[in-house]
Amino acid sequence: MGAFNFCNAEILRAIAEAAVELKTPVIVSTSQGEGVFLGFKQARSLVNAWQEQLGLDLILHLDHGKSLDIVKTAIDAGYDSVHFDGSGLSFAENVKLMRQVVEYAKQKNSIMVEGELGYLRGASAPGQKVIIKKKDLTNPAMANKFIQETGIDSLAVAIGNIHGIAQGGQDPHLDLARLSEIQQVVANSAFLVLHGGSGIPDKDVKQAIKSGIVKINVNTELRVAYVNALRKFLQDNPHETTPYKVMEPVVAAIKQVVTSKIRLFNF
Ligand code: G3H
Ligand code: ZN
Repeated sequence: MGAFNFCNAEILRAIAEAAVELKTPVIVSTSQGEGVFLGFKQARSLVNAWQEQLGLDLILHLDHGKSLDIVKTAIDAGYDSVHFDGSGLSFAENVKLMRQVVEYAKQKNSIMVEGELGYLRGASAPGQKVIIKKKDLTNPAMANKFIQETGIDSLAVAIGNIHGIAQGGQDPHLDLARLSEIQQVVANSAFLVLHGGSGIPDKDVKQAIKSGIVKINVNTELRVAYVNALRKFLQDNPHETTPYKVMEPVVAAIKQVVTSKIRLFNF
């Protein structure tokens, strides 16, 4: 499944329209910063409205929640799924907080919980200069231990993926052998998630799906489509001041990116 980030009504509209045209359920995510900007309850209401109007399955997900407090805020606002990102913590600390997230999520209905192990470099923007180190990658045995000790439903893995798009336009190749190893050790105890879905060559994406990835997060390519379309429209139409006219090509550009990603993921 594609998981697409949004921080305002027009990005969500573009994702929802692409999904309904392709008759595919999608995950719509807000990162911590995106959720704070839009409002967690506002995100929930907007997603509800699109679901009702389109009869579509949209899963509202918190992406990279960095504290228990922010995860609780999203759950209390009615999110369907949460990602606690403790990848910057020690293994023990990550497990400890992750367990608290799982406990909170499970006592409030059946909310899906995603954890993260391994270190993902970069940020959701183009032009990333990153050097991936071997120790950044998810260790298969530790991944299994992490899943068993926390009870998470899905695990974000570091297999050579980065956040954002690498300088030069194409990300480094994924370590697909490492992914297969993780998949074998973890078996079916958790879904595997690929972050940093922007800039990855299509053939790597397809191979990752064949090797067990079931959720792919995409943000930067949507952000780039957004600002490029907006910049072009304003340059071409310097006197236009009606926001919904300005936003029309922006929605179309994002929709195009989401459509091509969904097609790629459903190959
Ligand atoms: O959590 C969000 C994703 O990992 C986004 O990655 O900005 O490289 O598409 P991306
Ligand atoms: Zn991510």
